[in-house]
Amino acid sequence: MLARVGTLSWRESDATLSASAVPWVRLSHVVDGSGVPRNASHHVRKDLAGRPMSAAPMWVRTKSELRGHRRQRAHSCWDHLLIAPLWPKYGVNLGTLLRTCDAVGACLAVPHCPWVRDALDRGNTLRRPSCVHWANKPLTWLAAQRRAGSDIVGVELTDEAIRLADLPPARRRTVVVLGHESDGIPTEATVLLDRAVEIPMLGTGHSLNVAVAGSLVAYKLAGLV
Ligand SMILES: C[S@@+](CC[C@H](N)C(=O)[O-])C[C@H]1O[C@@H](n2cnc3c(N)ncnc32)[C@H](O)[C@@H]1O
Repeated sequence: MLARVGTLSWRESDATLSASAVPWVRLSHVVDGSGVPRNASHHVRKDLAGRPMSAAPMWVRTKSELRGHRRQRAHSCWDHLLIAPLWPKYGVNLGTLLRTCDAVGACLAVPHCPWVRDALDRGNTLRRPSCVHWANKPLTWLAAQRRAGSDIVGVELTDEAIRLADLPPARRRTVVVLGHESDGIPTEATVLLDRAVEIPMLGTGHSLNVAVAGSLVAYKLAGLV
């Protein structure tokens, strides 16, 4: 029987051909109304190296299934985990961090200036508003957070840093400080850090993108990985 998916077509009885075509196909595109994948087959399908592929196709969740699993309203300010890119250079990173904050139940803390507000409006791809704390003067704001008893964790490549794998989930209100895209965390801010965490790197690049680094640490502190 000939089955057609987008621009791909294959014979279900032809194990080799279906094996080469299937890996790039989102299975949610090949289900019929009953939710049964059309390419579910009794044949043992093999990959190009001749290894048997998993017997059952995986179910890639549809948008409406995902919507059903998520909270319907944005979470309010939980004020437990604050991701703080206090010296941002590129607005696009703020949009990415905002999305991570939504995913892990964190707030975003950013300096209060017009371009940052615009960047967040532009970069916010979520349908619901997220919690943003405005830090008028980053150093003063950070010092106040520390005085109030928050744990201040710097995400930075420093000699004193612990490795991400050794960072336990946050047990009290925690501010995660991220550095400037070119210059890192300013020296005068490093004295306000309780500790620093570093994400080990094996490649030739000096550092990670700040939104990637912040997201990895946010997930670890939230206890989700
Ligand atoms: C592009 S890096 C700048 C790094 C570096 N300090 C410099 O001056 O070139 C921007 C920020 O991303 C974060 N970052 C990037 N890679 C990191 C890593 N491997 N471990 C911890 N933080 C990292 C830090 O917050 C850093 O300040």
